[in-house]
Amino acid sequence: MSAAPSAGPAPVRVAVIGAGLMGREVASAFGRWFALLDCPVRPELAAVCDLNPAALDWFRQVPTVRHFETDYRALLRLPDIDVAYVALPHDLHEAAYLEVIRAGKDLFAEKPFGIDLAAAKRVRDEAARLGRFVRVSSEFPFLPAAHRMFKLVKSGELGRIIEIRAAFHHSSDLDPKKAINWKRQVAHCGAAGVMNDLGMHVAHLPLRLGWKPRTVHASLQKIYRTRPDGRGGTAECDTWDNASLHTTVEIAGEEVPMTLEMKRMAPGETNTWIFEVLGTDRGVRHSTKEPKTLWTFNRGAEQTWTKVDLGFDTPFKTITGAIFEPGFPDVLMQMWAAFLAERSGVLGGRFGCATPDEAVAHHEVWAAALESQRSRSVVTL
Ligand SMILES: NC(=O)c1ccc[n+]([C@@H]2O[C@H](COP(=O)([O-])OP(=O)(O)OC[C@H]3O[C@@H](n4cnc5c(N)ncnc54)[C@H](O)[C@@H]3O)[C@@H](O)[C@H]2O)c1
Repeated sequence: MSAAPSAGPAPVRVAVIGAGLMGREVASAFGRWFALLDCPVRPELAAVCDLNPAALDWFRQVPTVRHFETDYRALLRLPDIDVAYVALPHDLHEAAYLEVIRAGKDLFAEKPFGIDLAAAKRVRDEAARLGRFVRVSSEFPFLPAAHRMFKLVKSGELGRIIEIRAAFHHSSDLDPKKAINWKRQVAHCGAAGVMNDLGMHVAHLPLRLGWKPRTVHASLQKIYRTRPDGRGGTAECDTWDNASLHTTVEIAGEEVPMTLEMKRMAPGETNTWIFEVLGTDRGVRHSTKEPKTLWTFNRGAEQTWTKVDLGFDTPFKTITGAIFEPGFPDVLMQMWAAFLAERSGVLGGRFGCATPDEAVAHHEVWAAALESQRSRSVVTL
């Protein structure tokens, strides 16, 4: 009889602060960690905290969770926590992130890493001063197609880059009866609105490729000004709903147009992430609308766009059959594997999670976009 796989080194003890939508996804990813074949680090969900005690109840079915708290400061005093994953409304990011790292824990932060640029810089600088390991959640680069596009672009095979488009589109806000929540209020979401909410998904790959905008011209839209408040009344909806940024980046000494789109009201789009880079020799294009499909352009004797189904070609290998299609929970798990592996120094050349510097850089672009909208001009960074 063959031996069961060894449990390996002690697990990294993780606490979730903010047991909402994302906190549960993390519990789910950890719960099937055995699906990973080559991740040398193992997490254990040890604690969960939410202001709302009812939100903790779902976590009572997770066998490893031994601490249930409603005050995250109490949770941060626990000695048996190594990493805190914080998924709170944006206005709470800075205080919570600073308290996590000052309590001696490492931090997996949610985007946008602070409500604005100043907050993001303060957290980044304090983490550097304290020497804590901090990364920011952004899962789409862990899609097989994103991963393949990243490698192809970096290889230089595209020739001279002509243009870039990165987009992330939602549509449920088209329903005027959808009740307001904190993401539609500047006080909680931030002045950058949809850019704070969806922007890291759009900016992460370009920034990792070294494409930080030099100039920004923004078209920002507020589409529905009020929404039901969920209690029979109406509330003001004051955040930007849609943002289209026409930017230029410098690539190999040339100015290249790059469009960044973040939309809450894109008819028919449910969490559609799009990335496209066109070059003089080759091009790449992917949309989560066709989750396993990568389009590549080739300029040969004839010009062709070729479509290939990638299957389950993830950075960390899994038990899942190579022909099966990946989804959101799969890439979230891959992202966590990258976070934990990098924290332990065993990432081994794989794609790493978004860094505090990248989070600061993305806020710089949104600050420029707000200024561009205000002054109706092109802003130079
Ligand atoms: N990476 C992604 O794909 C992704 C997707 C959605 C949201 N997010 C990010 O995750 C974060 C949270 O968003 P969400 O959609 O999970 O929000 P959510 O509203 O579903 O959950 C937030 C939770 O925080 C709790 N909370 C509020 N104040 C608290 C406090 N002081 N102490 C403890 N708990 C408190 C709330 O009760 C709620 O349960 C945001 O930064 C958001 O941008 C990331």
